[in-house]
Amino acid sequence: MTTSEESYTPPSLRPNSFSRRTGWSNRPNELSRALARRGGAPPLDLTATNPTEAGLAYDGDRIRAALSSGAALRYRPEPFGLPAARAAVSASLAAQGRAVPPERIALTASTSEAYGFLFKLMGDPGDAAAIPAPSYPLFDYLAELEGLSLARYRLVHEGDWRLDRDSFDEALSQPGVRAAIAIQPNNPTGSVLGEDELDFIAGRCRERGVALVSDEVFWEYPLESTARWKSAASVADCLSFTLGGLSKLAGLPQLKLAWIAVAGPDGLVDEALGRLELVADSYLSVASPVQEALPEILALAPAFQARLRERLSLNLAAAGRAFAPPSPVSLLRPQGGWSLVVRVPRLAGRESGEAWALALLERDDLLVQPGYFYDFEGEAYLVLSLLTPPELFAEGVRRLAARAAD
Ligand SMILES: Cc1ncc(COP(=O)(O)O)c(C=O)c1O
Repeated sequence: MTTSEESYTPPSLRPNSFSRRTGWSNRPNELSRALARRGGAPPLDLTATNPTEAGLAYDGDRIRAALSSGAALRYRPEPFGLPAARAAVSASLAAQGRAVPPERIALTASTSEAYGFLFKLMGDPGDAAAIPAPSYPLFDYLAELEGLSLARYRLVHEGDWRLDRDSFDEALSQPGVRAAIAIQPNNPTGSVLGEDELDFIAGRCRERGVALVSDEVFWEYPLESTARWKSAASVADCLSFTLGGLSKLAGLPQLKLAWIAVAGPDGLVDEALGRLELVADSYLSVASPVQEALPEILALAPAFQARLRERLSLNLAAAGRAFAPPSPVSLLRPQGGWSLVVRVPRLAGRESGEAWALALLERDDLLVQPGYFYDFEGEAYLVLSLLTPPELFAEGVRRLAARAAD
C-alpha cells in the first residue's frame, strides 16, 4: 500500500510491466555517436533515402488536387480498402505482367504494416520467418514486435548475386518457420532472384506448407533488363503475398498507402483472405483521402519513376567511373533499387566497414553506411544511396575513391 505521493510509481512505469519484445538496446552505434559529436556544417550525405527530400520533381498540383477531392470527406470503412483503389492497384500490377484481381488485393498503411499483418496471419509467438541476409534492418523489429524470430538465409556475391540454396533449406528447417521472405530488388544489394531461384523457393514453400512473402517495393526501378525477373504474383503453386506501396512506387512515403496481393492455390488464397480481412478490420488503418486519390496518384507515378530511374542510372554510371580499375574499391552491381554496395579494402582491427565509415566522416566529411547495418559478412562493405542528387553523389564517390587510393 502506498503511503505518500513521492513513493508512488504509476503501474505503467514499473520496469517489469514492459514487454520483453520491446527491450531493445537504444544505445547509439559508433557512427551515430561520431555524427552527434561533430559540430559545424552537415557532412556530404550518401545515406539519405527519403525521396521527398532528394530534390526530385513531383506533380504537386495534381497530387494535392487528388487528395482534396470531395469524396475525401466521406468515410466508408472497408477492411481491404475501397474497391476503386484496389482496382487501381490491380491495373497497375497488371501493366507489369503481375496480374492479381482486385478481390485479392488488401490495402495497408505501409509495407511495414503489411509485414505486421502477415506475421499475425501466419505465425504465433515463438514461430519464425526466413529472411535474406544481407537485407534491410527493420525486419528484426517487425518480426520481434509480433513475437517471431528470424531464420536467415544467405545471398552470396560471386560476380553476381545468387541465392545460397543450402542456406535457404537450412533456414526453412529451423523450428517454427511459417513464412519465407524474398525481396526483389533487395535493399541494399539491389539483387533480384533469377526465375529458377524464385521457383526453387516457391517449390520449397509448397513442400513445407510455408507462405512466400515477396517484397517488390523497388520493382519499378530496374537497373538492367527485366526479361528474367519473376514476380511472386506469377507463382501458382504456393501461397504467396506480393508487397508494394506508394512509398517507393510514387516516392510518396508520407501518404501511407501500400498493398498485399495474394496469389496461389484457390483454397489457400480464400482461407488467407478470410483471416487477413479480420486482421485488417481490426485496424482499418488506411486513410480515406489517399484511397480516393489512389487512381490519380498511380497514373502520375510512371513520370516520377522515369525521372528517378534516370538519376539512379546517372549515379550508378558515376560510381562505375570513380571505382574503375585500378581503384581498390569495387562495385557490386545492383540489378535494381535505390542503393549501391561497394567493397573496400579490409582495415586491420575493428569491423572494417564501420572503421571506413568513421574515417570517411572524420577525414572527408562524407557520410556512408557500413555494411554491417545490413548484415554483410566478412569483408568491408559500404552502402551508398543512389537517390542522392547527382552532383553530390559524384563528389561523394570521388572522395571515397581518393581516400581508398591514398
Ligand atoms: C525492401 C523494403 N521494403 C519495405 C520498406 C518499407 O516501406 P514502407 O514505407 O512501405 O513501410 C523498405 C524501406 O526502405 C524497404 O527497403
